[in-house]
Amino acid sequence: MEETDVSLRLDAILLSRETIHKRVSELAAEIIDEFRGSELILVGVLKGAVIFMSDLARAIGGEVDVRMDFMAVSSYGNSMSSSGAVKIVKDIDTPAEGKNIILVEDIMDTGLTLSYLGDMIMARNPSKFKICVLLEKPERKKVECAIAYRGFSIPDKFVVGYGLDCAGKWRNLPDIWRVAEG
Ligand code: IMP
Ligand code: MG
Repeated sequence: MEETDVSLRLDAILLSRETIHKRVSELAAEIIDEFRGSELILVGVLKGAVIFMSDLARAIGGEVDVRMDFMAVSSYGNSMSSSGAVKIVKDIDTPAEGKNIILVEDIMDTGLTLSYLGDMIMARNPSKFKICVLLEKPERKKVECAIAYRGFSIPDKFVVGYGLDCAGKWRNLPDIWRVAEG
């Protein structure tokens, strides 16, 4: 599927809100284990990571000194496949040098976006740098990109909900759905 001018509908729930909630708590526990008592900047990739990062930050709670920042990159527009081009539309407000940073993203598809952003942040000499993704599509991977915290590996099917969109739509759904044509 290339463009969204075909009519699309929600097909079936792939990951329920309960399943997501449980996994987010587990990821938060892993992050607390590693960063307890220290300062940690969660850097969300707009807009898809907003809902996941909000829940993750709350699940981490007060045991880690959490700060939140955001980056925005050029999106797919209305297309559902990667152009491979990554353009920084908004950078983080905080200097990354000497900081503990987790880059938080909704989904790793080809890995092009995260490897580009990861290289960019690493070049600023953070103290620790990790990547956290809610979803990963291993079959679609084009570049190696180390994920420290991974929610779920999913098949190569387009999904929406819990921050993920299709041409801007369906980000606010509490569950993650598969999309179908027709
Ligand atoms: P990558 O650079 O190919 O890894 O692209 C990652 C980006 O593609 C994500 O941030 C999403 O915006 C988008 N994306 C990839 N697969 C899906 C999907 O199934 N649903 C919604 N967005 C997706
Ligand atoms: Mg995105």
